Amino acid sequence: MRVDLHFTPHQSDEFALRDRVVVVVDVLRASTTIVTALRNGAREIIPVTSVERAVKISGSLFGDAILRGGERNGRMIEGFNLGNSPAEYTEEKVRGKAIIFSTTNGSLAIERARYARLMLVCGFVNISSVAEVVVRHAADFTVLCAGSNGLFSLEDSVCAGMLIRTVAELQGREPELSDGAVAAVALHKAMGRNILKVIRTSDHGRYLTDIGFGADLPLCAAVDDIPAVPQLAGNVIKLRADGGREPAPPPGS
Ligand code: MLT
Repeated sequence: MRVDLHFTPHQSDEFALRDRVVVVVDVLRASTTIVTALRNGAREIIPVTSVERAVKISGSLFGDAILRGGERNGRMIEGFNLGNSPAEYTEEKVRGKAIIFSTTNGSLAIERARYARLMLVCGFVNISSVAEVVVRHAADFTVLCAGSNGLFSLEDSVCAGMLIRTVAELQGREPELSDGAVAAVALHKAMGRNILKVIRTSDHGRYLTDIGFGADLPLCAAVDDIPAVPQLAGNVIKLRADGGREPAPPPGS
């Protein structure tokens, strides 16, 4: 098994990721929010990169069967129902709903991976469940970090390193690593003992605290809190049958 790692979606393109197993990591906060929403019964997440597209495709069902969620600059978008705080995505609000979801970096990473053979969404909250699925597929894989506006982000990279270590431990042998993957594993080894501290001291963690979303950070740091694996199925993200409440159709269907 070989593991590649891209620190930002700007380093990737759809065609390089075509037919690969890709794990998208956006700890703060898109991955954590997607896992939370699906665990709380959202029917599906429809990822889109632009606000205009979110408005266009929500159409006449908006507000009834369909909600709009996401952020720009960390804050809820005007005309949307939900922002990007995992705590907003309660069962009461999201059960049975499709959520059109647009965030700054996470949605871009998901879009770049849209032709993947298998695309999974990973944060600290579901890291062991994602690692189990990766091991079951026994294939080379790419970790695609969302980063921050085209730049490296500490929390995604430490999470990527933890994922790679967990996969290695579960399969009982060392994968071959690209330079980026080696760097992420080294970062996790150096800093991974206190995930909340990593998140709190990261650029984006400090920004979120400054704008009033500090309460989200412990939710995003809660390792293995949600044993569920979101997977892209066509144009939507659903929970895998073996990691959550709703079955995802086989990739490519
Ligand atoms: C993103 O996709 O850029 C993030 O999830 C930003 C955020 O913290 O809301």
